[in-house]
Amino acid sequence: MGHKTLYFGLFCVFLAYYVYIPIPEGIEEPWKVQLLDASMKMISLTAMLLENTGIITYEEFYLTISSVLLTRPESDGNLTVLDTDFGGVPVRLYVPTGAAERQRPAVVFLHGGAFVLGSCKLEAYNFLNRMVANRLDAVVVGVDYRLAPQYHFPVPLEDCISAVKFFLQDEILRQYGVDSARVCISGDSSGGLLAAQVVQALKNDPEFKDKIKAQALIYPGLQLFDTLMPSHMENEYGPILPRKMLIKLGCLYVTKDQALPQAMWKNQHVPQEHKHLLKFVNWSTFLPEKYKKSHVYTEPITGIFNASYLNSVAHMSPLIANDSELQTLPLTYVLTCEHDVLRDDGLIYVTRLQNAGVNVTHDHVENGFHGALAFINSPFHLNLGHRVKDKYISWLEENL
Ligand SMILES: *[C@@H]1O[C@H](CO)[C@@H](O)[C@H](O)[C@H]1NC(C)=O
Ligand SMILES: *[C@@H]1O[C@H](CO)[C@@H](O)[C@H](O)[C@H]1NC(C)=O
Ligand SMILES: *[C@@H]1O[C@H](CO)[C@@H](O)[C@H](O)[C@H]1NC(C)=O
Ligand SMILES: *[C@@H]1O[C@H](CO)[C@@H](O)[C@H](O)[C@H]1NC(C)=O
Ligand SMILES: *[C@@H]1O[C@H](CO)[C@@H](O)[C@H](O)[C@H]1NC(C)=O
Repeated sequence: MGHKTLYFGLFCVFLAYYVYIPIPEGIEEPWKVQLLDASMKMISLTAMLLENTGIITYEEFYLTISSVLLTRPESDGNLTVLDTDFGGVPVRLYVPTGAAERQRPAVVFLHGGAFVLGSCKLEAYNFLNRMVANRLDAVVVGVDYRLAPQYHFPVPLEDCISAVKFFLQDEILRQYGVDSARVCISGDSSGGLLAAQVVQALKNDPEFKDKIKAQALIYPGLQLFDTLMPSHMENEYGPILPRKMLIKLGCLYVTKDQALPQAMWKNQHVPQEHKHLLKFVNWSTFLPEKYKKSHVYTEPITGIFNASYLNSVAHMSPLIANDSELQTLPLTYVLTCEHDVLRDDGLIYVTRLQNAGVNVTHDHVENGFHGALAFINSPFHLNLGHRVKDKYISWLEENL
C-alpha cells in the first residue's frame, strides 16, 4: 500500500470520527453542517500535528490553505473594485459606478479570523461587501489590518483605527461622494470586537465623533476576561469554533507565551489588578434569564496569573468600558447565534448598551452558529449563512 493510500485511509478514519460528534439539534442542513464542521476540525487537527512536529505553525498552515480562497479585485458594470491603501493600511474599496442621486452611505468592514487569520479578500467577505455596495448603493471599505502573532495587540487595532481615520477625513469622503452623516463600522467575530473598539476610540474624538452613524457587530467576541460563561460551556466543541480554538487563537493576539492559554483554559488568567473590572462582564448580572439556564456563576480566579503583557488585556475588551463610556455610542446592530461560544459576549453587550440608553437592534438566530457568514458562496452555501447576511444587509438598508 502506497503512502498516499495510507494517508487517505487515516484521513477518512479521522473524518468519520469527527463527523460523529453530534451537532446541536435544530440546526438546518445538518449533514452539510456536520461535514463542514468535521472538515474544519480535521484542518485544525492537521495544523496542530504539523505545529507539534515543528514544520509550520498552526496559523501559517491555515493561512496557506485559505490563500486559495483569496479573490482579486474585479470591477463590473455596477462597481469599481480596487485594492489600495488608507494611511498605509491595505484596503479593498468598492465604489458604485452609476451617477449618485445623492451622497452615498459607506460601510467599513473589519473581517473576522480571531486576529490571526482571514482577509477582506476572502471569497465570502468579498461577496458580502460587494453585495452591500450594490444593495445600498454604498461605498464599502474592507480593511486588511496586520495579523497576530506576527503583529500582537495593539497593531491590528491601530491599523483599523488608522484606516477609518483616513477614510473619515472630509476630503476623502468628498472624493468618494460619501455622506459624512451615514457611515457604519461593521465587523464579524473578532472583527466585531475591532469594530466596537474603533467606535469606542473615535466617539470621543471631536474630529470623528459625528461621522460614525452606526456600528454593526455580527456574532462578535468582545472580551477575554471570562472564558467560562454559559455559551463557552454549552458550545465547548463547536460547531466551527470550539472553545479550545478560541482560546488558542485569542491568546496569540496578545502573546506567544504558552502559559496564557493554559491559564485561560482554567479561567485563571485575570490579574489581581483587573479584578474590579469583572463586574462589567458578569453574566449573572447581564445575561437575560433564558440564557442562564441551570448554570451557576463562578467568578474568574484572579491573582494566580500575572504577566506584564496582561496589562493590555483590559484595553482589548470593549465590554470592559464603563457605563459613561457606553452612553455616547451610536446606533448599534448586534447579531448573536445560539450555538456560539461567543454568544454571551454579544448578549451582555446588548444589555449593557440598552442600560446605557443606546439605540440597539438585536437579532438572535436560534438555530445559528458561529462563522455562518463564511458559507455564502459555492461550493459552501448554507441557508444559515444567507440568512445572517440578509439580516445584516436589511438592517443596514433600513438604518444607514
Ligand atoms: C448590477 O445592478 C443591477 C441593478 O441593481 C443588477 O440587476 C445586476 O445584477 C448587477 N450586476 C452585477 C454584476 O452585480
Ligand atoms: C456577579 O453578579 C452576581 C449576581 O448579580 C453577584 O452576586 C456577584 O457578586 C457578581 N460578581 C462580580 C465579580 O461582579
Ligand atoms: C503584576 O504585574 C504588574 C506589572 O507587571 C505589577 O505591577 C504587579 O505588581 C504584579 N502583581 C502581582 C500580584 O504580582
Ligand atoms: C469611565 O472610564 C473612563 C475611561 O477609562 C474614565 O475616564 C471615567 O472616569 C470612568 N467613569 C466612571 C463613572 O467610572
Ligand atoms: C432607533 O433608531 C432608529 C433609526 O435607525 C429610529 O427609527 C428609532 O426611532 C430609534 N429608537 C429610539 C428608541 O430612539
